[in-house]
Amino acid sequence: MNTTVVTHATEVVLPGEVEPSGLRLRTRDLPPPSAGHVLLRMDATGVSFAEQQMRRGKYYDQPPFPFVPGYDVVGTVVATGPGVDPAMVGRRVAAVTKTGAWASHLLLDAADVVPVPDGVTAADAETVVVNGVTAWQMLHRTAKVRRGGTIVVLGANGGVGSTLVQLARHAGITVIGTASARHHDTVRALGATPVDYRDPELYRRIRELVPDGVDAVFDHVGGAGLEQSWSLLRRGGVLVSYGTAATKDEAGNSQLPVLKLFARLALWNNLPNGRSAHFYNFWAGKRRPAAFRARLREDLTQVLALLADGTLAAQIAAEFPLDEAAAALALAESRTVAGKVVIVP
Ligand SMILES: NC(=O)c1ccc[n+]([C@@H]2O[C@H](COP(=O)([O-])OP(=O)(O)OC[C@H]3O[C@@H](n4cnc5c(N)ncnc54)[C@H](OP(=O)(O)O)[C@@H]3O)[C@@H](O)[C@H]2O)c1
Repeated sequence: MNTTVVTHATEVVLPGEVEPSGLRLRTRDLPPPSAGHVLLRMDATGVSFAEQQMRRGKYYDQPPFPFVPGYDVVGTVVATGPGVDPAMVGRRVAAVTKTGAWASHLLLDAADVVPVPDGVTAADAETVVVNGVTAWQMLHRTAKVRRGGTIVVLGANGGVGSTLVQLARHAGITVIGTASARHHDTVRALGATPVDYRDPELYRRIRELVPDGVDAVFDHVGGAGLEQSWSLLRRGGVLVSYGTAATKDEAGNSQLPVLKLFARLALWNNLPNGRSAHFYNFWAGKRRPAAFRARLREDLTQVLALLADGTLAAQIAAEFPLDEAAAALALAESRTVAGKVVIVP
């Protein structure tokens, strides 16, 4: 084992269902990395929509409180456990953790980390870890939209949405992106045609733009609007549902809206209508770890390479130090930002 000089970590704890101001900081002792593991110094992590749901107890399979949130991380390996190549020390890597990344240091399975190309800053890389893989897999693995196609991306200003728009444009796909009016210039700069999701005539406007229907709709909102997303598809079109943002503030069971959504998608899928409806789940296939990791590594490597060569422009809404995670979460929840709120040491 390569010895570490790091003996403790500072972490942000979500103690229960609290406002962002209820997040707590704690310091804990860190054991050295065990076999197959690395100790990472966090260089950047970020706020995902998941933390907005977790602090309300509304994320589908969140751990019991208290826990350390943080869906993904970019960091530098500072120590390796037995069985891990000691040459990894000093390398910058990225990983998707679901929870635990809002920490100064964290222990990770070495098989879960993916190298970050030289020349990419940690904050820039952070914007495309979970967001980049999600966008890439939905576009190229789930919807499989071809060059020349047209898609609708809901929330084109968001972390996933802004990456999805850029990946689609790079693949020669026309994009219509929904966003509030304040973000239309940003969405236009990403290469999409913006439409205002607050406009009561939203769907009529989209139909005016693409009267024959679109090849895919990417919908993380769910709720009543899902039916409209489905209706925008042409024959052969694909609905990719990947969230239930609309129900975040509803009281009750956190799994019910998702189960209802699955039932609806299954019903639509079984109708003889020439369209298909999928739920994208980042963690699908996790029970076969080798295949899951290989796919994640391949896709994240592709997205990081596009960032390194300038095809993707990192969308950073703001940067906060770790001890201001509460302010970072509050800003992400303000519904005023474009891109990702990044947390740095
Ligand atoms: N299924 C999966 O495996 C998977 C993986 C990753 C992410 N996701 C989902 O992807 C979505 C985006 O995540 P993110 O981290 O990119 O979030 P984000 O950066 O906070 O962006 C959220 C986007 O959704 C919009 N939005 C927020 N609340 C909304 C509501 N109630 N109704 C309509 N639009 C709303 C926002 O618009 P404003 O800025 O105007 O509020 C923004 O465009 C989330 O729903 C998340 O759960 C799913």
